[in-house]
Amino acid sequence: MRLVKDEYELAQLRLAVQVTARGFDDIVRELPAVLAHPRGERVVEGVFHLRARSDGNGEGYDTIAASGPHACYLHWTRNDGAVADGDLILIDAGAEVDSLYTADITRTIPVSGTFTDVQRTVYETVREAADAAFAAAKPGVTFRTVHETALAVIARRTAEWGLLPVTADEALDADTGGQHRRYMVHGTSHHLGLDVHDCAQARREMYYDGILEPGMVFTIEPGLYFQIDDETVPAEYRGIGVRIEDDVLVTADGVENLSAALPRTADEIEAWVAQARR
Ligand code: GLY
Ligand code: MN
Ligand code: MN
Repeated sequence: MRLVKDEYELAQLRLAVQVTARGFDDIVRELPAVLAHPRGERVVEGVFHLRARSDGNGEGYDTIAASGPHACYLHWTRNDGAVADGDLILIDAGAEVDSLYTADITRTIPVSGTFTDVQRTVYETVREAADAAFAAAKPGVTFRTVHETALAVIARRTAEWGLLPVTADEALDADTGGQHRRYMVHGTSHHLGLDVHDCAQARREMYYDGILEPGMVFTIEPGLYFQIDDETVPAEYRGIGVRIEDDVLVTADGVENLSAALPRTADEIEAWVAQARR
């Protein structure tokens, strides 16, 4: 029953997303304090905590505040690092409202206010993967299709950059492929609701192989992660980790991005940081 949300649940999820968006705005506004503190990641966590506790029940899961190469750890919740000028910081945070419904949003932000060329290339590729997944998600397609659509973009781009030992088509082969998965080692989506990974115990045929229906709410969250010591990629990629995570509602003919109010393109992210500094 929980895979398809009713009106009450949707209202609660919209509220959780709103509170979360406010928390992200707070973080961007506090970036100067984040940069000044030797454990800036903890400052990010603390700023979000204040918003989640004051406007909601708390966090729906431990906040991930992962700056620089920490972004390449999938669930970096130690958050004890510095945030250095020039870093990208990956922030994965969700406020849980009093009804216990939670949002789950990730933004990756250049703390100095502008992406370097290589950071922008990686960022916009992750966005391209997310946009492809948004376009694919509609009633009647399988949940798995959304994931495969995002991964096809990741395979194509990483092959173009010369990172794969095979062609994109070979990487996408179901039996012998997967070489691109080195750089995106997680799924693209999970259902969202009372639990951040809602209905995670649902049977495979209802979840990964399940058919999308109006009223379902899930994340779209592709990423690219180049470990600091990964010699399969050119030096300029190493230590870059990017994820963009939005929460979507399946409608009659596609999806509505519930977290659309948050800046999302590279240009929008830069404008967001610039505006907070004024
Ligand atoms: N915050 C955990 C996840 O994105 O699934
Ligand atoms: Mn998620
Ligand atoms: Mn998340």
